[in-house]
Amino acid sequence: MPDLIAHGLLAGLDEIADTGRDRRAAGYSRHLWEPAEHELRAWFTERAERLGLAVETDRNGNTWAWWGEPGADAVVVGSHLDSVPGGGAYDGPLGVVSALDAVARLQAAGFVPSRPCAVLVFAEEEGSRFGVACLGSRLLSGAIDADTARALTDRAGITLAEAAKTAGLNPAHLGRDQAALDRIGIFLELHVEQGRRLIDLGEPVAVASSILAHGRWRLSFTGQGNHAGATPMTGRRDPMVAAAHAIVAVQKAALANPGARATVGRIEAIPGGTNVIPSAVTAWLDARADTDDQARAVVADITARLQAPHSGCAATVVEESWTGTVTFDPELAARLALALGGVPALATGAGHDAGVLAARLPTAMLFVRNPTGISHSPEEFATLADCLAGVEALDTLLRELL
Ligand code: GLV
Ligand code: MN
Ligand code: MN
Repeated sequence: MPDLIAHGLLAGLDEIADTGRDRRAAGYSRHLWEPAEHELRAWFTERAERLGLAVETDRNGNTWAWWGEPGADAVVVGSHLDSVPGGGAYDGPLGVVSALDAVARLQAAGFVPSRPCAVLVFAEEEGSRFGVACLGSRLLSGAIDADTARALTDRAGITLAEAAKTAGLNPAHLGRDQAALDRIGIFLELHVEQGRRLIDLGEPVAVASSILAHGRWRLSFTGQGNHAGATPMTGRRDPMVAAAHAIVAVQKAALANPGARATVGRIEAIPGGTNVIPSAVTAWLDARADTDDQARAVVADITARLQAPHSGCAATVVEESWTGTVTFDPELAARLALALGGVPALATGAGHDAGVLAARLPTAMLFVRNPTGISHSPEEFATLADCLAGVEALDTLLRELL
């Protein structure tokens, strides 16, 4: 086997192990078009070109590496290189590295594809910089309106349009890319499992069956900014207190709707001083459930609980993104599970670009066992043996599909 299959970690994961480490949060913070993410794209380009692949970036910032001539009805395999703040090493990069390694294995075995094939790196899958998850696949497929996307801002107030321009893209060209979309015959994404089903099943890999309905909402609270020492406790209009009540309501609403999950993982106080009663607080809600109706019901429940105003503050709820329940192409999933000797099919609570594309074209996913069962955390893990089982499974599936 060529040097591309490493000893120790998968070769690619080894090479990017120091890129984007976050000393404060631990783990990795690799956000769209920031230095670490640029470095990862450069690494991807260099590695793909070493395999003789032709690398191009589409008008939405997704990077494609073509094995042979680009063309219609391609088998496209990939994932993402960006991370959540303080994320693990595997969510995203494992899929990209495994795709490259599977191509390397097929090339070394003299396999010649009978249809076009590309490895694809999606931009901003986690939504960590601009707030909307799977932004690259949403833009590509038209699942997000281009004007809405251009106006998204990061924490520093930089718009997506401005950041795209700095990254060398033409912001006017962001949005549905029919020509690029039309080239994809099948999209396949390998991903570290985000849960513990494969541990319990004693299996290294599985195919995906479905994804929970999920979305993000911005909860905004406004009150009266004032002095922490000079303002009596009675009569304050403190939006942090309103936000605290709301966060407890989020937990109550999710617990009252069996199977639902609701999380506030990010909160921001304006202006954000220890000795300042904030004038405004924003909390971001992530809510998920089996069906669209259940997820919507949880958010409606949370919204209703916010209507009892605390501390004289005003509250508003704005939807920032939404993805209904995804069912992966059942025939394709069954065919791939069979090709892998009858591996299990698993539902997941995590969102993926493959889920966004599933509304437009046949997509499938492969999960690789994560012995910690933890994800979006530095504790996310996969053993080398299981990673190699994932590459072997991709190799088998590419032979089946190409
Ligand atoms: C992505 O990993 C998500 O499910 O938020
Ligand atoms: Mn993730
Ligand atoms: Mn991911």
